[in-house]
Amino acid sequence: MVREDKWFTLKDGRKALLRNPLDEDIEGVLEYLRVSAAETDFILRYPEECEKYTYEGEKKLFDEWKESDCDFTLVCLVDGKVAGNCQLRMNNRMKTRHRASIGIALMKEYWNLGIGTQMFEEMIKVAKTKPEITQLELEFIEGNSRARALYEKMGFRIIATHPNFIKLKNGKLLNEYLMVKEL
Ligand SMILES: CC(C)(COP(=O)(O)OP(=O)(O)OC[C@H]1O[C@@H](n2cnc3c(N)ncnc32)[C@H](O)[C@@H]1OP(=O)(O)O)[C@@H](O)C(=O)NCCC(=O)NCCS
Repeated sequence: MVREDKWFTLKDGRKALLRNPLDEDIEGVLEYLRVSAAETDFILRYPEECEKYTYEGEKKLFDEWKESDCDFTLVCLVDGKVAGNCQLRMNNRMKTRHRASIGIALMKEYWNLGIGTQMFEEMIKVAKTKPEITQLELEFIEGNSRARALYEKMGFRIIATHPNFIKLKNGKLLNEYLMVKEL
């Protein structure tokens, strides 16, 4: 799904651009995937698991997203650099097409600048253009207080806990919380 570009101002005064990913963003997205995986335990991949990501693989995904009615993806660019991305994922199954799920992550140098808030505003706007979608869903890992604060600000509430959802290299088990927002 394609949407027009959106410029906005970060909390530090810089300008940022939200737009659908273009082929020229592929190297930046690969860099963001590798860097963000090393910066937080709250996303599901470790950096070494990003070695499988390739230019060709990302291009294929970008092309699929462009054509798809079920995927809406945005990248955020700051000073021309990919800061992170977000995705609203819908599906076509008759029994579950009222639900859409959200994923979001940014590199650490771009946290707390208001990008997440802008991304959510766009994803919610897009979801609202689809009358069949009545519920948005997302998850966060125990301890991710920044994500939780953002999601609660955007109107999501916790509805379930998935115990021991991830296991870190040091053996620590962490729960995952499922949140929903009714539209
Ligand atoms: C979670 C994430 C997407 C949020 O995006 P962001 O651009 O940093 O979020 P914003 O700046 O728009 O908003 C963050 C809010 O949390 C608040 N906040 C920041 N740190 C906080 C903390 N430790 N506890 C509670 N609230 C916190 C901020 O004040 C801000 O609220 P405000 O807008 O009312 O001032 C981003 O930080 C990120 O990518 N983190 C690492 C990856 C990740 O955790 N992804 C989510 C997986 S579920």
